[in-house]
Amino acid sequence: MFQRSAIADLPKPQQYAELVTQLRGLLQGECNLIANAANFAALVYHALPGLNWCGFYFVDAAVAGGELVLGPFQGQPACVRIAFGRGVCGTAAATRTTQLVADVHAFPGHIACDAASRAEIVVPLLLPDGRLLGVWDVDSPQRARFDEDDRAGMQTLTAVFLQACAV
Ligand code: SME
Repeated sequence: MFQRSAIADLPKPQQYAELVTQLRGLLQGECNLIANAANFAALVYHALPGLNWCGFYFVDAAVAGGELVLGPFQGQPACVRIAFGRGVCGTAAATRTTQLVADVHAFPGHIACDAASRAEIVVPLLLPDGRLLGVWDVDSPQRARFDEDDRAGMQTLTAVFLQACAV
């Protein structure tokens, strides 16, 4: 059985260092993308304090112009499809850069899936060959919940996910 340890009281860099270790153990030896994405979301959601949603949106290659479609997540049911360039997730996909938003109410075009969400961080998932797999999206009801420590930590976690054999 996977043993998750409590990290909420640690300083953020240590929270992420611990999560990286736990994530490596969780993904070890498994090559299924959906299973790994589901366990990734569950690990982060239950380990980090102050989140109300986290999950994946994957690129739907069949849609012209680029579209994201909902993948494994934790939290309330969410918007299923997001066009490239729309909202925080679509902006991360279109620009291929991490979006760190202190207050989503001030973000032009923000898509409100859960009215409780206030802060958001979205990391693009770039494959070694340059293709975009999708984005990793994390929401919080607390304004300015995410900072540069979260940007670095989430980028490291997604890198571990992308290195798993499934991708
Ligand atoms: N708020 C996001 C949409 C996804 S949900 O938060 C789960 C956005 O603006 O892209």
